[in-house]
Amino acid sequence: MIKLIKPYISFQEIEKEFQEIFESGYFTRGPYVKTFAERIKEYTKAKHAYLATSATTALWACMRLLNIMSGHEVIVSDFSFPATANIVEDVGAKPVFADVSPDTFNMLPEELEKKITPKTKAVLFVDALGNPSGIHEIKEICQKHQIPLIEDAACAMGSSERDVKCGNIADLTCFSFHPRKLLTTGEGGAITTNSDRLSELLAVKLAHGSIFHEGKYDFVDFGYNFRLPELQAVMGIKQIEKLDAIVQSRNAIRNQFIQELEPIGFKAQRVSPGVEYNVQSLVFQVPKRIQRDWLVNKLKDAGIETTLGTYCLSGTTYYRKRYNNVQPKAWELQNTTITFPCYEGLDVDFICNAVRRSLQ
Ligand SMILES: Cc1ncc(COP(=O)(O)O)c(C=O)c1O
Repeated sequence: MIKLIKPYISFQEIEKEFQEIFESGYFTRGPYVKTFAERIKEYTKAKHAYLATSATTALWACMRLLNIMSGHEVIVSDFSFPATANIVEDVGAKPVFADVSPDTFNMLPEELEKKITPKTKAVLFVDALGNPSGIHEIKEICQKHQIPLIEDAACAMGSSERDVKCGNIADLTCFSFHPRKLLTTGEGGAITTNSDRLSELLAVKLAHGSIFHEGKYDFVDFGYNFRLPELQAVMGIKQIEKLDAIVQSRNAIRNQFIQELEPIGFKAQRVSPGVEYNVQSLVFQVPKRIQRDWLVNKLKDAGIETTLGTYCLSGTTYYRKRYNNVQPKAWELQNTTITFPCYEGLDVDFICNAVRRSLQ
């Protein structure tokens, strides 16, 4: 079976450091966690970076940091993984779904403008499948209305727009290191910000509400433990070193797929000018004459793993029942997009020939 994902890290790469950590007994709050956070800062050029256990806990911490709660609204890109809306719902606020571009799959500026109300406490922009197209335009709207912008960059480590890396654009940016991402630590996440004020608050919240002062801890707030362990941090350090090369190789594979599949009616997710896209998921809309699920099954029979693009959040059973406000463009994308495998060493011709045969 040709698998959808393949990690960019081997056991040999981390063996030495793992052994050292087991011998030292420092499984948490050690030098590797510090180094990984430093590397994220250097890579994204963000002023501050914190590690977390996942993008979900990172995003959730941002909700608490901004005091988002019942009676508040957060405008959310509607084409994403459900965690994006769940963290808003979980703190008692209302996720207001903004429809997305059928080309880039990202939040449409006119949809955002339409949905801003006095209750809007934040905008949660998703780099759909790693693509940050349009985030600067969204940032300008947020600045005009003085609303904080949170970037759900779960998929977007390594991407940039206007030469600014994801992590250095929004007020708060959250990354995921889940195995579907380019850089994986098994589970894991990070938060970056350029704001000293938000950084100070985050440092306290992420340390059980404590500050270290005159040799002892003072618990000045309530807080959490979302710490990434040392072993995971080693994995992260090894991969961030090769991230740019990984992004380049995925773009070369994407171009090959585009050349083979667009002439037979597939349409690739579009990337705006000035965007560097990490191709976290290689997603196409299928030709109108076929059904996506039918193609996924045909390719499975041919030994190729594929899956849907991602979800229309407003169309999931929970959010449809709760708010009954399905966004049409995101709904169409949920039902017509397919994700293909994308990594070095892949036999692209074999996959595209199987697609062609399925269509005959
Ligand atoms: C856009 C988006 N946001 C959030 C998440 C949640 O990330 P994690 O699994 O690290 O909690 C995902 C996971 O796939 C995602 O794709």
